[in-house]
Amino acid sequence: MPPRLKVRHALASAQPAAGVEVAGWVRTKRDSKGFSFLEVNDGSCLRNLQAVVDHAVPGAGDLPEILTGASVRITGDLVPSPAKGQAWELKATSLALVGRADAAFPLQKKGHTPEFLRSIPHLRARTNRIGSALRVRSVMAMEIHRFFQDRGFAYVHTPVITASDCEGAGELFRVTTLDPASPPKGADGKVDWAADFFGRQAYLTVSGQLEGETLACALGDVYTFGPTFRAENSNTSRHASEFWMIEPEMAFCDLAGDMDVAEALVQHLVRAALERCADELAFFDAYVSKGLLERLRGIVAQPFARVSYTEAVELLLASGQAFEFPVRWGENFQAEHERWLTETHFRRPVTVHDYPASAKPFYMRRNDDGRTVAAMDLLVPGIGEIVGGSQREERLDLLEAAMRAHGLDLEGYGWYLDLRRFGTVPHAGFGLGFERLLMLVTGEGNIRDVTAFPRTPGHA
Ligand code: 4AD
Ligand code: MG
Repeated sequence: MPPRLKVRHALASAQPAAGVEVAGWVRTKRDSKGFSFLEVNDGSCLRNLQAVVDHAVPGAGDLPEILTGASVRITGDLVPSPAKGQAWELKATSLALVGRADAAFPLQKKGHTPEFLRSIPHLRARTNRIGSALRVRSVMAMEIHRFFQDRGFAYVHTPVITASDCEGAGELFRVTTLDPASPPKGADGKVDWAADFFGRQAYLTVSGQLEGETLACALGDVYTFGPTFRAENSNTSRHASEFWMIEPEMAFCDLAGDMDVAEALVQHLVRAALERCADELAFFDAYVSKGLLERLRGIVAQPFARVSYTEAVELLLASGQAFEFPVRWGENFQAEHERWLTETHFRRPVTVHDYPASAKPFYMRRNDDGRTVAAMDLLVPGIGEIVGGSQREERLDLLEAAMRAHGLDLEGYGWYLDLRRFGTVPHAGFGLGFERLLMLVTGEGNIRDVTAFPRTPGHA
């Protein structure tokens, strides 16, 4: 068997090639007198390779059974194509039907709604739309590593199972091996978690940050890139119960440095998508989100806006806009507020910094004004928040006070406080939501369509 030639490489070939083998799934078949034309897609790129099959070649007898969705293996010669829009086609010398697909195959030629495609997650990656999103996802994952590795960050792995609630929002999925029908109970009639697998309550992580901090306070600059879980009952187009997060953590770094890295990362990823996923982005621009390419070029063409939370509140109050939720200093912004700032006012990505302490978790560094913390959120048009981060409180007494104020049990966080007891350093980091980033670069409006197997409330 000759080595299989990927369609991607066939279409980019510099010269004709004899005796190559291509394998993939048939998108369409057209019959004419003496010949059939098969559009073959192997997932290596958006485009199909057209194979011209003479009805006299070995295997051509199977053609009547080769329908949309069937898998085939074709050997032949790569020759210049007379057809418009493609440089090469495959002149078959033999055809093999590998796996039949009958007329029940749900992805026939006609267009399909994203809702329909979500009902067949095991097949929808064979469409241009989902296939493209997943190829972009792969390239972006690689570029995330490139960005951090080029800057000397260590890639670290923080645990998926954890005992702490980093964000303090109580959106945790419990991990347990106790029998839900008859859990062991203590004298007080409550579940005896000491009898559980880990000897205590355990959860799926909502963020690797706290463990990331311990590693940054040893290795300097680190990043995690892994799955995170939130039992948040928000059924929106931007929330998933399982999503991937990129979390850098940097020792000897303040909020300004943190914002610089976040903005540089987002710009790097958009630039890489434009360069490395040109076909996919052109497809999304044409069929999913008109004007995508122009918007993405705008994102890399100029620095992002920066505004303090307090200034942003003033802008929102002065906007004359009738928001559903009133704007009040001290509260987190609602999506409508974020979108007004980035889409209407600044018309580009904007980093909002120095939020009120009352709206943020315990670990953020208190500012000298006594009421704000060194936090930042990066907002982008069409989505809103894609990055959340902060400088961390590195002063032991202030951290303990903040933890008490948030009602945390200091006992359980002795290890976290030790970082402030032994060689404490100013440090900062952030979390970039990977799927939100993918929504930005693909123009997809729903997080379910940039995730192969989305998990959302009621759906697993
Ligand atoms: O703002 P968040 O909650 O920040 C943290 O978890 C920090 N501990 C990160 C850090 O500083 N290391 O989440 C960070 C980002 C959000 O900006 C958003 O992009 C994404 O994670 N995100 C979600 N993405 C999809 N579905 C959800 N339910 C998400 N929740 C957060
Ligand atoms: Mg956030």
